Amino acid sequence: MPLPAPFDRLRLPVIGSPLFIVSGPELVIAQCKAGIVGSFPALNARPQSQVDEWLHQITEELAAHNRDNPDRPAAPFAVNQIVHKSNDRLDADMATCAKWQVPMVITSLGAREEVFSAVKGWGGITLHDVINDRFARKAIEKGATGLIPVAAGAGGHAGVLSPFALMQEIREWFDGLVALSGSIAHGRSILGAQALGADFAYIGSPWIAATEANADEGYKQAIVEGRAEGIVYTNLFTGVHGNYLRSSIVGAGLDPDNLPESDPSKMNFGSGGNTKAKAWKDIWGSGQGIGTVTKSAPVEETVARLEREYIAAKEALAKATA
Ligand SMILES: Cc1cc2nc3c(=O)[nH]c(=O)nc-3n(C[C@H](O)[C@H](O)[C@H](O)COP(=O)(O)O)c2cc1C
Repeated sequence: MPLPAPFDRLRLPVIGSPLFIVSGPELVIAQCKAGIVGSFPALNARPQSQVDEWLHQITEELAAHNRDNPDRPAAPFAVNQIVHKSNDRLDADMATCAKWQVPMVITSLGAREEVFSAVKGWGGITLHDVINDRFARKAIEKGATGLIPVAAGAGGHAGVLSPFALMQEIREWFDGLVALSGSIAHGRSILGAQALGADFAYIGSPWIAATEANADEGYKQAIVEGRAEGIVYTNLFTGVHGNYLRSSIVGAGLDPDNLPESDPSKMNFGSGGNTKAKAWKDIWGSGQGIGTVTKSAPVEETVARLEREYIAAKEALAKATA
């Protein structure tokens, strides 16, 4: 479907997905200036009052960019809300998003009617992330504008279903906005997501290596060196299954091939479950798509690469199907 304004002015149909700790204003501004949607988890801004400062900075810098580059306007940005009972900042963070009329709110770990209707109230759109068709139906029933099917191989709290299966099931009944997530890191894969019926490709892990990302140099280098087979799927570190870099698990003194199961009732995003290692800080999250990341580079360089690959893939497909 054609993307609704202001999302109809993107250079590529891509959302730079929210990354705990890693995404801050510098990364978001670089993504939007490069022509893709940039986003950050509200919880990355600490204390809570910093959300207002970040939204002020992002809004001002993008407005200045648009004044100087009327032919190349910045993409809109998004804020991610973790809608889980453990998030006691949700109301305050939503009030700050309302103040800045955030164009897109991405919700994870819980679908709440009042969150979706509040965003609709100021003219924004909501995308809710889901790992199966059952959760997708619930989110749309509760009023989400669209969906983010998180397929196998995605970074962070990923699902286990094939992107083909997820998209096939969801597109049987839903014709609204869909952003497909999971290991997308090449222009060809963006076109592939569109061929599966997605409106956006939702890309996370490659940005960890971006110059503008808030990540240790060691983490960036591990993304550059990492490949799909070095990703471990476990629920040990937060209580929810997610994908992590094997090298960081070894670095924390654990055996990635013999990790114990965690108790899901003890979900805690910042803890290492029954280990001393801290998820996200010591144990590094990553999806399986990082084989295409060959250096730590500015966002603009990566978006330019994705654009070249996307155009080449379209041309190759046109030839193959002529
Ligand atoms: C280090 C890391 C942190 C993440 N933090 C969040 C988060 O705070 N909120 C969220 O909704 N998703 C989070 N995710 C998931 C991503 O937004 C996205 O779904 C995923 O990265 C897409 O898969 P890909 O990494 O294979 O591109 C995180 C992923 C990673 C790798």
